[in-house]
Parts: sequence; C-alpha cells; structure tokens
Amino acid sequence: MCGLIGYNGIGQAAHFIFSGLQKLEYRGYDSAGLATITDGLLQYKKDIGKLEEVESIHHISQLPGHVGIGHVRWAAHGKVDQVNAHPQFDEGHNIAVVHNGIVENARELRCCLENTHSFVSTTDTEVIPFLLAQYYHQKGSLIAAIASAIAELRGPFAFLAMSCYDPGKFFACAREMPLLFVSTPTGYMAASDVNSFPDGCNQVYTLEDGQIAEVTSQGFVFYDSTGSIIEKQPEMLARQASAIYVNSSEYYMMREIREQPRAVEQAIEQSAADMQAAAQAIKEAQNVIFTACGTSRHAALMGRYLFSRISKRMSEVIIGSEFKYFSDAICQDSVVIAISQSGETADVMDGVRTARTKNAKVISLVNHHASQLARLSDIVFPLKCGTENAVAATKSYMAQITVLTLLSHYLAGQQHDILKKLKDIIPLVEIAYETNLKRAESLARYIAKYNACYFIARGSNFHIAMEAALKMKEVSYVHGEGMPAGELKHGTLALIEKGTPIVAICPADYTFDDTLCNIEEAKARGAFIIGVSDKHHRIFDVWCKIPKVDEILYPFVAIVPLQELAYFTALARGVNPDRPRNLAKSITVK
Ligand code: F6R
Repeated sequence: MCGLIGYNGIGQAAHFIFSGLQKLEYRGYDSAGLATITDGLLQYKKDIGKLEEVESIHHISQLPGHVGIGHVRWAAHGKVDQVNAHPQFDEGHNIAVVHNGIVENARELRCCLENTHSFVSTTDTEVIPFLLAQYYHQKGSLIAAIASAIAELRGPFAFLAMSCYDPGKFFACAREMPLLFVSTPTGYMAASDVNSFPDGCNQVYTLEDGQIAEVTSQGFVFYDSTGSIIEKQPEMLARQASAIYVNSSEYYMMREIREQPRAVEQAIEQSAADMQAAAQAIKEAQNVIFTACGTSRHAALMGRYLFSRISKRMSEVIIGSEFKYFSDAICQDSVVIAISQSGETADVMDGVRTARTKNAKVISLVNHHASQLARLSDIVFPLKCGTENAVAATKSYMAQITVLTLLSHYLAGQQHDILKKLKDIIPLVEIAYETNLKRAESLARYIAKYNACYFIARGSNFHIAMEAALKMKEVSYVHGEGMPAGELKHGTLALIEKGTPIVAICPADYTFDDTLCNIEEAKARGAFIIGVSDKHHRIFDVWCKIPKVDEILYPFVAIVPLQELAYFTALARGVNPDRPRNLAKSITVK
C-alpha cells in the first residue's frame, strides 16, 4: 500500500528517501516518485513500475537538494499511470504533495475547484495541492493553508507537502493514518512506516487528529489542526528485527513459513497481568466481538472456537468492513478484540473507532507496536513475529493463534497447562514443515493445472480450510474456496468433476468420521482427495501427514503443508508468491 517519506538535513535528501522507500517495497505498490528543492525550485521525477525500474530510467535517488519528499503508490483513485503517480502539484507547480489515504469528498472538491483550475490527474490527491495553493494565496502561510485545507478534506489521510514558497522545509499532516517522525544522525525524517527509518532511530513522534508538523533542518515544530503550536513528547519504539535468513535466493513467503516455530515461541511470551486483565474484561462483558480482515479474521474464527470450547464463552466474529453495520449492538459493556498484523488496516480501524465511540473496551493483537490500532487499544498483545515481508500472512497468523490459545486458557483459568502444551508444539510445527515440503512441491504441479481447489474441514479445523483457500488464491491465482465440510453438499458439490482437487483437513479427532462422510460424497463425483491428517485413510489420493497433537492444537500443524502448497502452486504457475497482483501488505484504505 502507499508509503511516504520526507527528509530535511545535511545529507542528500533523495538518497535517504530512496533507501527508505526501498524498505517499504514489501507493502506492495505500482508507481513511485520523489521531489526535492534546489535553489528554491521544485525538482521531481515519477513513473509507474518498481523502484529499481523508476530509478534506472529517472535516477530519482540522484535528485539534488537537502529537502525532499517521496512516495510509493498503490492505485486506489485513478488508474496506474505516470500522471497519477505522486508527487501531485498545484497548477503553478509551486507546491508538491505526496499522500496516503483517500479524500472521500474529492469529487465535490474537484467540482468546486474545476471552475477556476484544470486538473491533470485523475487522483483524489490532486485536490490537496490545489487547496493548499488557494489558501496560501489568501493567508500567506503554508501552516495556515494546511489548517484551512484539511478542514475541507473528508476521510483519513497522511500527506507531506513541500513548496518553493518556503523552500527550506517540508510539512506533514495526518488524520487517522500513521505518520511518524525521527531525528537521524544527518537530519530529520517523516514516514508512514517505522520500517523506513534508518536503524537505531527509536525516539518517535506521531501525529494525531489533523495535527501538522513543520520539518526544518533544525528539527520539528508541531501544530494542532487549527495551526497553533503544540508540544509533543517522543515515544521510545521497541523495533524488532526479522529473523536472519538462511538462503537468500528464497522468496520471503517460504522463509516466513519456516520461521513459524519461532513465531510460536516468541508469541507465548505475553504479560500475565495483561492476560488476566483481558480475561477479566471478557468474563464481565455483555458481548465479545472479534473484528479483523483476511487471514487475521481466520485467526479470529479460531479464537471464537476456543472461547466456546475452552472457556464456554460465546463470541462473534465480524469482518472489519462490516463492523459499523452492527454498531447498534455495541455498548460500554462490550469487549472488542481487534486482530491485525499491520495494526493499520483501515476497515479494522474503522470498526475500532466505532467501538471506542460507544465506550467499548478494545483489546488488540498486533505486530506493529507503533500502529494506530495499538495506540487506540486498552490492552495490546504484541505478536512479536518480526517484519512479515511477503504480502501473504503466514507467521503472523501463527503468532495470532498462539496468543488466542493462551487467552482462551486464561479465561478458563487453565493457563499453566497450556503454556507447556504450546512449548511442546514448537518442534511439531517444524516437523509439519519438513515432512511435507517435497510432497507439497509435487502436489502443487497437479493443482497448478486446475482453476479451482476446494478446502473442507469441521469444528476447530474449519478456519484452516478458509485460511488455506485464501493462501491458495492470493499467491497462485488458483481459485480457492474453503468451507465447513458439511456445507459441500449444499451447493459446491455441483462443481466437482473428475480430478477436481479437494483438500480435506481431517485430523484423527472428533471431526474425523463426519468429515470422512463428506469426503466420500466428493470422491463419488470423481474428486482428487488430498488428506491433511495424522491418520491415513485409503480414500486419500495423497496424504499430507501431520504430527499427532492435542485436539485443539491441530491448526498449528495443519496449516503448514497448506501454506507450502499455495507457495509451490504459485511457483508451478510462474507467479512470484511474495508480490501477488493487485494486493498490498497493509490496506490503509476502506
Ligand atoms: C492474506 C493477507 C490479508 C491480511 C488482511 C489483514 O494473506 O495477508 O488477507 O490478512 O489484509 O491485514 P492485517 O492483519 O494487517 O490487518
């Protein structure tokens, strides 16, 4: 998703901005651009494509000047083309803006401005420099212009602006989107993602509620949304390095699949006091609602199951983007458990803000400590799995189900038993990885020839069917559909033909016999059955063997061969599993 960076200091701005943008590549983007100021004039280059492509054509890292702003864009408003890449400018090319988020009322604003100005792009962003120019001419100050312009913008945003009207600075402003500031040995930087800062910059300032920052070569001056100076204190940020990779020719996704035993090990280390406090709040709550998107929502489905099975506590899972439609039932006695790797997913944040306005208690599971979600939560459980670089979530999911397993046992007062069981599962996750690597690779060659693959399971394993299907479709573009095994005969069976791959997650637990009946139904229609189980059955065409574990812990081992299967299917189809088309790592727009 879009990322932005600004620099002001004694170094060459473009160099620092370019290397910061490179660290944002994992988020996914389709174009890049950079602007600097030299001799009072704006200079810029931008284009579609990856950073190295834009660099090889335009040498953006070589733009001269000590002040600059840069951007990687993931198109949301306006197609992917050079004109729509950022920076965007006012008509006179005196103000440059890079922007994350969506201007929700861009159409109305454009209509008003179009009477007197001509837009060149089809982005929502372009209204920002136009408004800034209009207000600068009325007020004579860029801070006052920003304060007036943002009063007209609807929706969450973060932007950086730079102008030849005040060439020694850049300006920053954010509402409900991340924008962070650090001082570095050579200057002062702003960025939308903490990962883009140089190592060792751990004292971080953040912006909230339309606050504005002026970044000079001497430091930061902060303003509230009306343009009055405010004081801010930096926060200490505990940054986590990712694991050291063994084989650098591998894709990130496979490295991250392999890091999962470590993800469990690190996620176990949670504050007992926070666990107790969360368990108490959940016990006392009138209703308990999980909210999340994508893979994090699948982890939430496991949470819902564990709360019911272990703690006898009924809960609900509501997809982030649907949360607001249920807000009538949220009250101050509700507990909302928000799960998000990035902590920035706009749909989740929207729900969490709705929950907060109703005074509900918010508990979050989040990997990024400096994220908005962490800041808006009453209790935060850090996932601690390090940077997840592949777009597809793997190790963060493993960390999420670890924390949820712990929490459900705290809720039932059984925390001591589960800690040991979770520690014992660590080597078994590794065994699930090793045992299936070759098998997944050869199976992938079979699946790669089909357009669809179905995943079925029951009970505690049902969400694995959903998660495995999501992994398959997003990285290999083979349509994946996951469902409770019992649902197959209520519609999807119509799609089963000779050879159609069906993955049945059916460990030798209380779900085995019932799932087997559904497998029989599919087999009778010619399906090719891939069984993921600790127990062999003659009906399997291929058996992905997983270790025997405690009944509720099968998801920890069952997901691993299915992540591998998705990965190898992508390779078999010649697709880069780390960078699925049209997707981004952190979805900061609604
Ligand atoms: C799937 C995937 C996405 C994310 C979803 C939520 O592999 O990565 O479905 O799970 O976009 O992201 P977070 O967890 O950052 O809120």
